Order: sequence, then structure tokens, then C-alpha cells
Amino acid sequence: MIGRLNHVAIAVPDLTAAAEQYRGPLGAEVGAPQPLPEHGVTVVFIELPNTKIELLHPLGEGSPIAAFLDKNPAGGIHHICYEVDDILAARDRLTGAGARVLGDGTPKIGAHGKPVLFLHPKDFNGCLLELEQV
Ligand code: CO
Repeated sequence: MIGRLNHVAIAVPDLTAAAEQYRGPLGAEVGAPQPLPEHGVTVVFIELPNTKIELLHPLGEGSPIAAFLDKNPAGGIHHICYEVDDILAARDRLTGAGARVLGDGTPKIGAHGKPVLFLHPKDFNGCLLELEQV
């Protein structure tokens, strides 16, 4: 059911410094910061030949990334995102198998303008999973 790895998201304490590190020493193609207030984050996308890296930084009060950075002050891998063809069918298949979807189970529009859902890390080997319909 899951398809390509769409991106790996890394929570970072300093978004400018992290973006410059990818642009400079790592020599990657780095996009402009995008504020996503409905997700409580500012994101920077890095285009790689086979996938993307999403740098995440807290935006606004109560950002889920702020709590993550409190526990991991140097930053760390926050989630990975798999592509699916039909996000509602994927959700129903996963919840039918006992997995928990975060929030009310309704897909939100993610950073690429496409529907996304998050799955509870305790149900997936300690890894927060994002599904994106492509
Ligand atoms: Co993501």
C-alpha cells in the first residue's frame, strides 16, 4: 500500500543555521522557509535526487515541535512520510488493523498542498509516520 518515501523530517533548533548547513557544506538544493501556522511549524524543504528532507522549526504557541525540541535540544528525526494513492482507504485499513491516527482522523492539507495524516509512533516502532496522498 505505501509507496515512495516522500520525505524525512528533522526538527531543528535553528532553522537558518540548518538550512545554510544543507546549502553550503552538504551542497543541497534548499527551498525558502514556509510558515504553516495550522501545523505550528515553519518548514524548509531540501530536494534530493530520490526524496526530500523537511527541516521543521516551531511556529506559534503550543507547537508540537517545541515539545520535541524540549526533549531533544540538539534536534532530531521527527517523522518520516510515505506516499499513498488513497489516504482515506489507507486510514481505514490502518485503523482496522488497530493503528491510531493522530487528531480526529480527518486528513489536513500538508506542506505540499496535499492531504496528510499522522500515525501514532507507539504503533510503529517508535517512529511517527506521516501519510501523504500524491
Ligand atoms: Co512531513
